[in-house]
Amino acid sequence: MGNNHFSTIFGALVIAAALAGPANAADEIEGKLQSCNACHGQNGQPISANIPIIWGQTTAFLVKQLHDYRSGDRDNAIMSSLAKTLKQEELRPAAVYLTGKTWPAHAGAAAATPQPNGMAVCRACHQENFTGGLPAPRLAGQSYEYLVDQMRRFATEERSNNADMVKIMQALSAGEREAMARYLAGL
Ligand code: HEC
Ligand code: HEC
Repeated sequence: MGNNHFSTIFGALVIAAALAGPANAADEIEGKLQSCNACHGQNGQPISANIPIIWGQTTAFLVKQLHDYRSGDRDNAIMSSLAKTLKQEELRPAAVYLTGKTWPAHAGAAAATPQPNGMAVCRACHQENFTGGLPAPRLAGQSYEYLVDQMRRFATEERSNNADMVKIMQALSAGEREAMARYLAGL
């Protein structure tokens, strides 16, 4: 009897979910993305400089990162399990939602610094003002700590989910990477 009762409730829930239909799919994704704010920030400003800004980031890049965290191509224990809370088919709508949010205004923590040499090559992919383009992410205004750490990880191949970035970062010294990250954070 207990079982029957349970399956009736379950059946009703399945029907309710089916009736709710696709109109609620977007709401459901938006609901899931609320949990991201705990770290990436209620207003898009992350709670720590080691956590990247994702509001207003480029769509193709976000889709690929969420995919890579899920598959393990980008290795990070926290984000790998969190990305798995989204289904494969939810990655693109989630990315589109995040891209549609506004990149947070400069916190004023990063001072503007002169542009170091060698950044023309970065513009080929990250675009003139470093606001990103298909498939490269926005770098302008991302935190110094996050940028310099990711650049180091590409150089050491701890992060190996893009072969071009690995090669480009290995061609630079640690000092050059630091100067570039400072410049980008101050934009
Ligand atoms: C517990 C804190 C925490 C939560 C919650 C969290 N993140 Fe993250 N997120 C991080 C950290 C830390 C990183 C940097 C990881 C690394 O170095 O690869 C990150 C990185 C990312 C990146 C890579 C961005 C870039 O510029 O490289 C994306 C995309 C992302 N998170 C999306 C999400 C989404 C979507 C959610 C919600 C489903 C979420 N995060 C929830 C901590 C968190
Ligand atoms: C050939 C195109 C290309 C060039 C040139 C290039 N990048 Fe990238 N960069 C990318 C792509 C694509 C990604 C995203 C890689 C991935 O899938 O994780 C990326 C990622 C990054 C990231 C990680 C950002 C994040 O939020 O996770 C940083 C930092 C970065 N690039 C800095 C630079 C700098 C500095 C230069 C110049 C010295 C440069 N890049 C040159 C294409 C390029």
